[in-house]
Amino acid sequence: MRLIVDTDGGIDDAVALLMVLAHSNTTLEAVTTVFGNVPLAQAIQNVKTILDVAQAPPVSIYKGCDQPLLRYQTLDAKDIHGDDGLGGASQAESERPMEAEHAALALIQLAEQYSGQIDLLTLGPLTNLALAVRLEPRIFRYFNRIVLMAGAVDIRGNTSAAAEFNIMADPEAAHIVFDAFQKSYIQPQLISWETTLAHPLTPEGWTRMIEGETPVARLVQHMDIHLNERRLLYKEPNVLWPDPLAAAVLCEPNSVLDQEIRFIEVETGHTITRGQTLVDYRRLSSQRPNARIVRRVDKQQFRQLLRMAVQM
Ligand code: BDR
Ligand code: CA
Repeated sequence: MRLIVDTDGGIDDAVALLMVLAHSNTTLEAVTTVFGNVPLAQAIQNVKTILDVAQAPPVSIYKGCDQPLLRYQTLDAKDIHGDDGLGGASQAESERPMEAEHAALALIQLAEQYSGQIDLLTLGPLTNLALAVRLEPRIFRYFNRIVLMAGAVDIRGNTSAAAEFNIMADPEAAHIVFDAFQKSYIQPQLISWETTLAHPLTPEGWTRMIEGETPVARLVQHMDIHLNERRLLYKEPNVLWPDPLAAAVLCEPNSVLDQEIRFIEVETGHTITRGQTLVDYRRLSSQRPNARIVRRVDKQQFRQLLRMAVQM
């Protein structure tokens, strides 16, 4: 299946991209980039670094939004991913060209061109997708599957008490996107922060997994030195992989063992719950569901996909 990955260029985005590249039934058609973990220019550089180190064949790379739709605040996650977004592993030089078109337009054009034969995986703020939806409200109908790493569905946010980073970085965009899903026929699969927490790896298991001398293994080891420092600083006992978990669900649909179909609304108010993905669990509203909240993924399959990614 052909795939577009929309990414904000962080360490877990990198591992997710490697997973997609390593997966034999997935063809990475394009990468659209967005601000988020790091500023847009750095996110682009990081995508090129990953593609270069993995010796990926030519992939179209598109420049997307460099800020949220409404600029009330600008977040980044350099704190976790390092100043360059890859824990110091980003490479400045790359021969890979950029496409001229904006990412939002590319999403529409590629979706139409490969109607029914293309999937979408979003790993960053939903700004590019929100713009695309505004320009072409029917865009979702062209995709085969859509998987989003987004949201905190049980109010265990990682950026505020209520909100997950990809939503908090642009709540208005997320609101537009979830609203549009409600009006469409396709329900995206959602990997939330809580689902990420429910699929941890032990540091020992992860360290064993990334042993090796290949350029990809060395890149992952480099990023992991930084990530390990952050884990110790924040007293996080586990290795957590939000974007790779979303990539695993995209690559292997059968790895999903449990999911709930629910209506989600994004809070855009300027209160302590800004960026919350509010889930109507008890179906108290009459709103049509707009998401499939993935709860459980086959851990063995997930580990196997991670292994393939880092041992490429
Ligand atoms: C998400 O936020 C980013 O920092 C990660 O890359 C991931 O997409 C997790 O909340
Ligand atoms: Ca990301």
